[in-house]
Amino acid sequence: MSDMPNAARGNTDVSMLAALPFSQACENNREPILSVLRELLTDSKRVLEIGSGTGQHSVYFAPRLPHVSWQTSDVPANHAAIHAWQQQYPADNVQPPLVLDLTSLDDIRAVTARPYDAVFTANTLHIVSWDLVLRLLGVAASVLPADGLLIVYGPFNEHGDYTSAGNRQFDAALQARGMGSAIRDIETVTVAAGQMQLSLIDRYAMPANNQLLVFQKQPDTL
Ligand SMILES: C[S@@+](CC[C@H](N)C(=O)[O-])C[C@H]1O[C@@H](n2cnc3c(N)ncnc32)[C@H](O)[C@@H]1O
Repeated sequence: MSDMPNAARGNTDVSMLAALPFSQACENNREPILSVLRELLTDSKRVLEIGSGTGQHSVYFAPRLPHVSWQTSDVPANHAAIHAWQQQYPADNVQPPLVLDLTSLDDIRAVTARPYDAVFTANTLHIVSWDLVLRLLGVAASVLPADGLLIVYGPFNEHGDYTSAGNRQFDAALQARGMGSAIRDIETVTVAAGQMQLSLIDRYAMPANNQLLVFQKQPDTL
């Protein structure tokens, strides 16, 4: 029998997890996301995750993508959770979180000092304000080489409209927070990304009315 922890094997032991900060959404979406990451990250070696949250995605994906070094990052308030998950489910290729609060230019400078060949972020673009969405895109554009991928998972609107009644309700709740949170339009994000040399090259319809968007860094032009 494998000595891999249950969550790392894909069969979460609920009693072991009781003490850890927990996201049910991560449990639900990790396998559909992983199946796309397996396709997209075949040639990647260093992945930066922005907004790692509880850290659940990192400890699930890293052992299943053993050829990549998975670098987590988030605001300091989430680091205890990420450390806890990484201690519970250690993997050689998952890195403890970098401090990355997109409101901090110092954090951005420190994180963008290292190169990555892919950037992954899940469920962040509708949480942070639009200004910080632009900063997140800027971080990706800055750390990626030509052809590097930015992979963005979450709910999106299409052509200015909701893709489901559930997303409409969710967006109302987000906007009621008054912090600039909102479901973004794919087209608006695509235009903003394009201005930073990140071209939308693919998109995957995901369960529960989510999308996975794939942007590729374009080479510098003279
Ligand atoms: C809904 S959670 C998603 C977490 C995780 N990626 C997931 O899919 O479960 C939103 C994430 O955005 C992060 N976030 C919010 N404000 C941020 C900021 N100013 N800078 C960086 N990350 C931020 C939160 O800390 C949190 O990890």
